[in-house]
This record gives sequence, C-alpha cells and structure tokens, in this order.
Amino acid sequence: MSLAINRENYFWHKLHSLTGIIPVGFYMLQHLTLNSFAFDSPEKFNGVVGFFETLPKHFLLVLEIVAIWLPLLFHAVYGLFIANRGEVNYFNKKYGWSQNRMYTFQRWSGIFLFLFLAYHIATTTIAKYMTGNIKVIEFAAWHEKLTQYGYIFLVIYALGVLTASYHLCYGIWNFCIRWGITISDKAQERIQKFSFGMFIVVTLLGWAALFGFLRHNPSEVSVSNESEAVHVMNFPLPQFPFA
Ligand code: HEM
Ligand code: HEM
Repeated sequence: MSLAINRENYFWHKLHSLTGIIPVGFYMLQHLTLNSFAFDSPEKFNGVVGFFETLPKHFLLVLEIVAIWLPLLFHAVYGLFIANRGEVNYFNKKYGWSQNRMYTFQRWSGIFLFLFLAYHIATTTIAKYMTGNIKVIEFAAWHEKLTQYGYIFLVIYALGVLTASYHLCYGIWNFCIRWGITISDKAQERIQKFSFGMFIVVTLLGWAALFGFLRHNPSEVSVSNESEAVHVMNFPLPQFPFA
C-alpha cells in the first residue's frame, strides 16, 4: 500500500515538475515578452491583444484550456499540496543556509503566485469573457489600473513578476537536477549561473512592460495614424497624486 502511494507520488511529482516548464514556464516567457511591447507603444501592446482576438473563438478557447488553464491548475493545486507538506528547513538551524533557504522561498513564492494569478486571471481573461469587451485588457485599462489607488496595483504586479521569475528560474535549476540533466558539479554550476542570468532578464522583461504602461499616456495617442501618434515619453508619476 505504502509502495503504491509512493509510486503515485513519484508520478504526480514528476508531472508537476514537467508542467512547471512545459507548458506553464514557456507560456510565461512568451507572455512577458509580448507584454513588454507596451514599453514601445500602446499600439504595439494593443496589437498583441488584438491578434489573439483575430483567432477563431473555438480555437482560442481550446488552446487556452489545453495549453494554459489545465496544466496551470494542476501545477498550482498539486504545488499547494507539496508546499503544505514540505519541511521548512530554513527554520532549522542545522540547515539554515542559502540552498535550503532558496528552496523554501520557491515554495512560498508558489503560494504567493497562486493568489496573484487567481486575481490576475480573474481581472483579465475571465473579465474579458464575462463582459465580452476587449477594452478591459487593452493598454488604457492597464494604464488606469496601475496608476490609481497610490500605485498599489503597480507594486502588486512588480512583485508578481519578480516572484514568478524567481519561481521559474530557480525551478529550472532544480528541474535539471531532478531529471538528471545536470549531473556533474561543473554542469550544476553552469545551470546555476544560467538560471541566475535568466532570473535577471525575465524580471526586467516583465518590469519593462509595467514601465511601458506608466511611460505612455493612452489619451494622448492617435490610434488611427501611428506615425503621427504623440507619446508621452516622460515618466508621468507626478501627474498622478497618491490616492
Ligand atoms: C507585466 C505583467 C503582466 C501583464 C501586463 C499581463 C497581461 C495579461 C493580459 C492582457 C492577459 C489577458 C490575455 C487574454 O485574455 O487575451 C493576461 C492573462 C494571463 N496572464 Fe498575464 N500579465 C502579466 C503578468 C503575468 C505573469 C507574471 C504571469 C505568470 C505566469 C501571467 C499569467 C497569465 C495567465 C495564465 C493568463 C491567462 C491566459 C489566458 O487564459 O489566455 N501574467 N495577462
Ligand atoms: C500558481 C501557483 C503555483 C504554485 C502553488 C506552485 C508551486 C510549486 C512548488 C511547491 C514547487 C516545488 C516543487 C518541489 O518542491 O518539488 C514548484 C516547482 C516549480 N514550479 Fe511552480 N507553482 C505555481 C506556479 C508556477 C508557475 C506560474 C510556473 C512557471 C512560470 C511554475 C514553474 C515551476 C517550476 C519550473 C518548478 C520546478 C520543478 C522541479 O522542481 O522540478 N510554477 N511549484
């Protein structure tokens, strides 16, 4: 019986590990890359949002369910079980050093991500389907959301990006060890450096998107003629008083 449970855990744990990279990790990388178009201009960001709307409705829905929602739901729910079950070595003086600490942070970041993504998906994709209005996820809506209420949502999103980036990049390092991709000490050192570099790049990519929503003012852009569009290139923080 206990053997059966262990086997089952082994399988689900491996599947959990795999879904973190494929498809969820890949989805996040392309998602933040496309979102970073906001850094360039509102038109570029709205162009990305609009592109997905040009896909046939049934195709988009099936793609979202199979490639994003189901794998993410499984990874998130099983991840909560693991996080709940995991030993917190950070608090154990005997192991109170960086590796265990980073491992513990990965589990905490999973819990934070669960809450962040529940809010994020409810206010983007689900809001779009419920209202039938694509404007809720366009540039102007982001600009408004991130600059209101004393920038609280900007802080939440900056933390969401940072946490997701840490969770994925530390996860890649762990994944390579778990799947026997990096065996020698040298290989493990190399993947450690790669993961750290990737953490910096992915975080900056997400933050570039957020900065783009502040940097440009949607009301001052001519949508009909991009070449004549007037962008507010200065960081507009002083224009928005804290709540
Ligand atoms: C710079 C910060 C972010 C911005 C501006 C942003 C923007 C968006 C937008 C506009 C949508 C709606 C897409 C649509 O329905 O067509 C969306 C959905 C989504 N976002 Fe983000 N996002 C950000 C950060 C993140 C992060 C860090 C993750 C973590 C993985 C994430 C995961 C998701 C997921 C899973 C969906 C649902 C996708 C779908 O069902 O099509 N987002 N996001
Ligand atoms: C939505 C909430 C999430 C929760 C609750 C969660 C939870 C977890 C936990 C607890 C682990 C550690 C597993 C272990 O100790 O063996 C983990 C690993 C991992 N997660 Fe997540 N996660 C979430 C979202 C994400 C997202 C959005 C991504 C991708 C961007 C992701 C990618 C990974 C990767 C790559 C690993 C490493 C797999 C391994 O150790 O082999 N997770 N997750």
